[in-house]
Amino acid sequence: MSTSPWPQGTECVARYNFKGTSEQDLPFNKGDVLTIIIVTKDPNWYHAKNAAGQEGTIPANYVQKREGVKSGGKLILVWFCLYTSACYFKLSTSDLLQHYTKDADGLCTKLIKPKLEEGTVAAQDEFSRSGWSMSRKDLKLHQVIGKGEFGDVMVGDYRGTKVAVKCIKNDATAQAFIAEASVMTQLRHNNLVQLLGVIVEENGSLFIVTEYMAKGCLVDYLRSRGRTVLGGEALVNFSLDVCEAMAYLEANNFVHRDLAARNVLVSDDNIAKVSDFGLTKEASSTQDTAKLPVKWTAPEALREKKFSTKSDVWSYGILLWEIYSFGRVPYPRIPLKDVVPRVEKGYKMDCPDGCPEVVYNIMKQCWNLDPAARPSFQMLREWLQHISHKK
Ligand SMILES: *[C@@H]1O[C@H](CO)[C@@H](O)[C@H](O)[C@H]1NC(C)=O
Ligand SMILES: *[C@@H]1O[C@H](CO)[C@@H](O)[C@H](O)[C@H]1NC(C)=O
Repeated sequence: MSTSPWPQGTECVARYNFKGTSEQDLPFNKGDVLTIIIVTKDPNWYHAKNAAGQEGTIPANYVQKREGVKSGGKLILVWFCLYTSACYFKLSTSDLLQHYTKDADGLCTKLIKPKLEEGTVAAQDEFSRSGWSMSRKDLKLHQVIGKGEFGDVMVGDYRGTKVAVKCIKNDATAQAFIAEASVMTQLRHNNLVQLLGVIVEENGSLFIVTEYMAKGCLVDYLRSRGRTVLGGEALVNFSLDVCEAMAYLEANNFVHRDLAARNVLVSDDNIAKVSDFGLTKEASSTQDTAKLPVKWTAPEALREKKFSTKSDVWSYGILLWEIYSFGRVPYPRIPLKDVVPRVEKGYKMDCPDGCPEVVYNIMKQCWNLDPAARPSFQMLREWLQHISHKK
């Protein structure tokens, strides 16, 4: 029995089935996620609620606390850098960096051929230990909603909840997504697409299960609805939603590196949520600047690979421009090869048609060539709250 009780809000995962013996008990099945709502005087029992919102008493020794996958995540993070150009990147990985920076620009070159099977088994253990493993037999896969180089994104059903599932078949690629998932276990915010769990199969196949976002990606949403449907309030709401998520990442020292309207999803109730990277993008080393989304990436990140919260702020300015131009591609009419040289000389995009001057001023501040002079997300949030009169 744990001596110090888990605080209110702790998430735990059922290790066994519990039928309950009285009216007050909350029955559950192995694998269910339960949230502690009240710590009772008796350390053996908690008052908890399940995913459906039902409440009741649960026995402490039937459940395990769910944790972020951290310890085993080190090597996994290297894989993550290896195979993806876009990721949440935890800044405080100094131990990892010290270990691998020996070969100059190739954080990862030594690890190109990691022992994949061992990695998969380790990941499997790590996810079950931390309470993020899901049961394959409870997952029903329905239709494909997205196709990518590495596998499909499908809509499915997990114990009655509609979910999105990334299915990754290739073992090597799976490692990168294991890394993605392990980072996602550490993050929780209403404006970040939530990871629900992971299934690692013996043969190296991987399923990453997240909440289902009914209205698809923000850029398509903006294009298809346009200015006849979406008023100023909807646009500020999206801007603020993304900013909230980014302020959370900023506070937790995560850098997204690929913030753009295509990587933001819209829920059924019109809430914008920042997503993990898509399957469609090419997985590659973060070192390869040729693969970076040039129009969204800050000049110092393109030039010197200096990714930071401030380079995310630059991308956020581009995202604001996308929102207020209803999903147009940035830098219209400028050939791609001319974008960087012009931006380096101080060129900034014009104010989108009908965009309020206050919002355009925010964009321009995000596009300051000096990263230190850009606002923080916390500051951006205050400005936007002011604009939306929420304050
Ligand atoms: C791995 O096994 C699952 C069944 O457990 C199967 O659906 C999947 O196609 C297999 N993947 C590969 C790459 O063989
Ligand atoms: C904007 O967000 C607020 C809640 O924060 C909501 O009440 C309002 O309906 C939203 N407006 C639009 C147009 O989505």
